[in-house]
Amino acid sequence: MYKILEKKGLTVNQTLYKVEAPHVAEKVQPGQFVIIRAFENGERIPVTPVRWSKEEGWVDLIVLTRGKTTKRMEVELQEGGYLLDIAGPLGNPAEHFSGKKILAIGIMTGLVEVYPIAKMWKEEGNTLITLHVTPEPLLFMQEEFESFSDKHIIDAYPMTETWIPDLGVHAVDSVKKIMEEDKPDMVFIVGPTEVQYAVFNVVKEYGVEMEVDLHPIMVDGTGMCGACRVTVGGEVKFACVDGPSFDAYKVDFEELISRNNFYLDKEQFSMKLYLESIQGGAQ
Ligand code: FAD
Ligand code: FES
Ligand code: MG
Repeated sequence: MYKILEKKGLTVNQTLYKVEAPHVAEKVQPGQFVIIRAFENGERIPVTPVRWSKEEGWVDLIVLTRGKTTKRMEVELQEGGYLLDIAGPLGNPAEHFSGKKILAIGIMTGLVEVYPIAKMWKEEGNTLITLHVTPEPLLFMQEEFESFSDKHIIDAYPMTETWIPDLGVHAVDSVKKIMEEDKPDMVFIVGPTEVQYAVFNVVKEYGVEMEVDLHPIMVDGTGMCGACRVTVGGEVKFACVDGPSFDAYKVDFEELISRNNFYLDKEQFSMKLYLESIQGGAQ
């Protein structure tokens, strides 16, 4: 059991959970994630420690409410309560670099995962341009990014219904501008696969190195279940143990997009049932 030391709504749909987890705080490195189980008989979901204290034994998790599990967390977990299980840290730490001019992009809540990695790259002697593309009501972590980035660029726009296509359009426009004006020599992006793919199609025109943190469905996080299978460089890889970060030029984005949408009907149905159960059929 892992005590929730603090729970705080950061913006609409984004919640911070500060959790007592000394075994994670002790070992976690930028680029790694954990798999949490919040409820008895509930599913396991991957999330990313954004900040942590080895000395005090806690990690901060920031979670976007997307479907049933994250909605249940937002509604049912309370400060002083507990997460049932936290497995990790899992996955490979981010690579170390110095002397590069890096554009690190967070799409919506993807910014959370960029934070520890970009901060580390800055400390290691790289020039850091950070970009946050998001609907305006989900804008967050602005001051934290400004505190270490050489330049923190925000592309925030009014909330729309068609969120992934709109994120893609904004991300592509902003990245084109930055590629022309700032000329980074490496790009890193965390966000929906569709947006990563659209941005990759811009970056490859410039022949610039690019890394992507992939988000396939994950279950065990240890390479045993096969849920997170992705094709990279024509080979089968498991994002949980071989990634989560990969060379964008080698990723089969189209296969991943289609695999990620495989359970969409079931996910939407279970969210609908949950909302009905808590709202007496109001939605
Ligand atoms: P559902 O309605 O069940 O699913 C909504 C969408 O979320 C799905 O279509 C799918 O794309 C994705 N998803 C669902 N189940 C899983 C799963 N088991 N594994 C991966 N993706 C899934 N989100 C955050 O808000 N903060 C984070 O720090 C964060 N870090 C992540 C790190 C990694 C390595 C990965 C792979 C994902 C991360 N995510 C993070 C995404 C998060 O795991 C999903 O948003 C969450 O699982 C959705 O669960 P749900 O039941 O609420 O939604
Ligand atoms: Fe099971 Fe990666 S999550 S193999
Ligand atoms: Mg789910």
